[in-house]
Amino acid sequence: MVKIAPSVLSADFGVLAEEIAKVEPEADLLHVDVMDGHFVPNLTIGPLVVEAIHRRTRVPLDVHLMIQNPDRYIAAFAQAGASYLSVHAEVCPHLHRTIEQIREAGVKPGVALNPSTSLHAVEQILDQVDLVLLMSVNPGFGGQAFIPFVLRKIEELARRRQRLDPRPEIEVDGGIKIENCRAVAQAGATILVAGSAIFGAPDPRAAIVKMREQVA
Ligand code: DX5
Ligand code: ZN
Repeated sequence: MVKIAPSVLSADFGVLAEEIAKVEPEADLLHVDVMDGHFVPNLTIGPLVVEAIHRRTRVPLDVHLMIQNPDRYIAAFAQAGASYLSVHAEVCPHLHRTIEQIREAGVKPGVALNPSTSLHAVEQILDQVDLVLLMSVNPGFGGQAFIPFVLRKIEELARRRQRLDPRPEIEVDGGIKIENCRAVAQAGATILVAGSAIFGAPDPRAAIVKMREQVA
C-alpha cells in the first residue's frame, strides 16, 4: 500500500499543532522540510521545531534535510525524534559514512536526489538505506509544478529495487496532486509527499483520503 506523507511546509506555522491534528488520523508519515538558505534558497526550521512537532504527534517524522554539512546535525535531529532522516547525495562526499552515522544514531537513513541528479549517485548504497527520496521539483519551495521526466527516474529506480533485499522505500516529493498521484504511484513510488495539495485544501484530511482512493 502506498503511504502518504503530508509536508508541513505548506501548513500554517502560526497554528502548527492544529494543522497537524487535522492530518494525523490519515497520515502515514509527517514530512518535515529543513532548509538552510545555502543548499536551497530558503530557510525553514531546525531541531527545536522538529522536537516540538514530535511532542504533538505519534505519526512518525520523515525529516528531509536540504542543508549543507548534514553530518553536523544528525545527532540533533535524532534526539528531536526523527524516524527517517534523509540527506541529499549532492552535499555528501562521504555518503556511506553519513548513512552509517544516521543508522548509529537510531534513525532510518534516507538519501535524496534532485531532479537532475542521476541514480548513479546512489547505486552503491541502495541496499543500505531505508528510503530513496526522488525530488520531483527543484527543492526549496512548496507549490511548484511536478517535473515530468522524473517519472522515468522513478520507474528506473523501481526496476533496480526489485533486485534488492531489503528494499528501500521510493519516496517522491514535489508537485504531487490528486490529479497526478496515480501516475506517480504506478511508476513505482511507495511514499507520496504532498504539501500544498493537502494543507492548501479546505479539508486536509479529506484530501489525503481522496489521494489514497486514487492510488488504491
Ligand atoms: C520542496 C520540499 C517539499 C514540499 C512539497 O523543496 O522538499 O517537501 O513541501 O510541496 P508541494 O507538495 O506543495 O510541492
Ligand atoms: Zn521535502
